Amino acid sequence: MKQPPPLFFLLILLSATIASAATTPTVSPTPSPTSSPTPPTTKAPSSSSSPLDPEQIKTLRSLHIPTTRDPCIQPSPRNATICDNSKPLRHLISLHLSNCSSDLFLSSAALKSLSSLRSLSFTDCPVSPVRFPSQLSLSLTSFSCIRSLRRLSGVWLSRFVNLTDLTVSYTPVKASGLYVILGHMHQLKTLTISHANLSGSLPRHLNPDLTHVDLSDNKLKGKIPTSLTLLEDLKFLNLSSNGLDGEIPTELGNMISLKNLSLASNSFSGSIPSSFSAIPGLVHVDLSNNQLNGSIPKFLSELKGLKVLNLENNQLNGVLPFNASFIKRLAVLKVGGNSNLCYNHSVLSSKLKLGVARCDKNGFPIVASPPKESSADSESDYGDDDAADTSNKKEKHHGPSKVVLGFAIGISSIVFLIIFLILIAKCCR
Ligand SMILES: *[C@@H]1O[C@H](CO)[C@@H](O)[C@H](O)[C@H]1NC(C)=O
Ligand SMILES: *[C@@H]1O[C@H](CO)[C@@H](O)[C@H](O)[C@H]1NC(C)=O
Ligand SMILES: *[C@@H]1O[C@H](CO)[C@@H](O)[C@H](O)[C@H]1NC(C)=O
Ligand SMILES: *[C@@H]1O[C@H](CO)[C@@H](O)[C@H](O)[C@H]1NC(C)=O
Ligand SMILES: *[C@@H]1O[C@H](CO)[C@@H](O)[C@H](O)[C@H]1NC(C)=O
Ligand SMILES: *[C@@H]1O[C@H](CO)[C@@H](O)[C@H](O)[C@H]1NC(C)=O
Ligand SMILES: *[C@@H]1O[C@H](CO)[C@@H](O)[C@H](O)[C@H]1NC(C)=O
Ligand SMILES: *[C@@H]1O[C@H](CO)[C@@H](O)[C@H](O)[C@H]1NC(C)=O
Ligand SMILES: *[C@@H]1O[C@H](CO)[C@@H](O)[C@H](O)[C@H]1NC(C)=O
Repeated sequence: MKQPPPLFFLLILLSATIASAATTPTVSPTPSPTSSPTPPTTKAPSSSSSPLDPEQIKTLRSLHIPTTRDPCIQPSPRNATICDNSKPLRHLISLHLSNCSSDLFLSSAALKSLSSLRSLSFTDCPVSPVRFPSQLSLSLTSFSCIRSLRRLSGVWLSRFVNLTDLTVSYTPVKASGLYVILGHMHQLKTLTISHANLSGSLPRHLNPDLTHVDLSDNKLKGKIPTSLTLLEDLKFLNLSSNGLDGEIPTELGNMISLKNLSLASNSFSGSIPSSFSAIPGLVHVDLSNNQLNGSIPKFLSELKGLKVLNLENNQLNGVLPFNASFIKRLAVLKVGGNSNLCYNHSVLSSKLKLGVARCDKNGFPIVASPPKESSADSESDYGDDDAADTSNKKEKHHGPSKVVLGFAIGISSIVFLIIFLILIAKCCR
């Protein structure tokens, strides 16, 4: 007769906790949607500014951009528009189309009305790429296309001759070479054509004002031309995941502004040129997944700003020329996958987990031997360090899962208790 009350109490407790857990997330989001629409309506358009060109308002409507609110007030609907300040009518200078519906299409009348644009960008907007009126093509200084416009041709892009910024990403580009696209773009400063299935070789001439070049994940072939090494203002160069080959040219050291460099996942061979030491500001160097050979040059450790160094999966050999204080300074160091590379045990601890073997007296890697008996002292040395290290990592990485585990154990013991009490209650009836 005394069993029902605790069971009842427990069930109430359990349902209360479940209810509170279920209600808390649903309660918190509700205030934000109700509060956010209010500020825009209170923001009245300033009476002094002139209205947007009615032709362009019509065009915005045809592009499914809401115009009930003045599109010239910042931030505009979906951040899609920026206007100039001209009178009596304002004009659009920037238009960003994103998440377009599949029935959207660009009419020539719409494009004609947009010739005031300096910047045009598409993100997730699969409209068909129609021919742009030449006035619009010439007026654009910035063009961006990310997962949009289905597919582009080099000739189509080449008509934007006044661009300073060009971005095409996750959109196939068909061109017999980059020179077709860039041939007449003499103002270009930043160039991104990535994940675009672009073929051909790197052009023999590039605009010397370029500061940013990302041509990653394409089908580019051939060697790095000297035109590239002449870019003294270039800060960022990403040529990763292409079919480029040959040696890394010594002249790369002439690119004195370079900060981030990736030549990863190509077929570059030969050694890492010593001219790298002439580039003082290098922060991020990724040469992984190539066929580079020779030893790792010591000067890399003298680059004061270096944060990320990835040399993994090459054929580099010899003794790793880095000490612990240099390695500690880096955010990322990857040297694994170089089977003839090794580290000096009197300089570096095996706890660093560099993914390379320890060197013998002559600077050759000690090949790890599976049988327990051979080279007993080095084996035990490795074993101890491994055990210490993995336990450390486990403590660091699996902190939250312990909480989850504890919670699960708590819940299941409550459930067991309830079942137990129910059984007892049934028994006693
Ligand atoms: C619009 O742009 C502003 C400033 O760039 C940004 O803070 C805001 O999140 C953007 N809003 C939307 C809906 O993208
Ligand atoms: C586009 O749609 C996705 C999902 O429908 C949404 O997460 C994203 O915020 C949208 N982006 C813009 C810029 O409206
Ligand atoms: C763009 O380029 C053309 C031809 O190279 C030139 O005539 C024009 O002045 C440039 N600038 C603008 C804003 O159209
Ligand atoms: C990528 O380019 C190759 C030719 O280099 C072509 O056969 C293939 O269809 C292209 N893929 C896409 C998605 O355009
Ligand atoms: C280069 O591009 C690839 C693919 O687009 C990207 O994963 C990588 O982080 C980039 N590297 C650098 C140094 O920016
Ligand atoms: C350059 O590399 C650094 C270090 O990895 C990174 O923080 C920074 O975002 C990179 N810059 C660009 C433009 O990707
Ligand atoms: C590196 O590889 C090249 C061929 O790609 C070869 O000519 C050269 O002798 C190799 N150098 C070393 C140090 O192994
Ligand atoms: C580690 O290497 C750097 C660069 O080679 C050097 O400047 C520094 O003195 C070395 N530190 C130690 C503790 O040997
Ligand atoms: C390892 O470092 C010690 C101390 O700096 C040095 O005497 C020894 O020659 C080095 N061994 C190799 C194989 O480089």
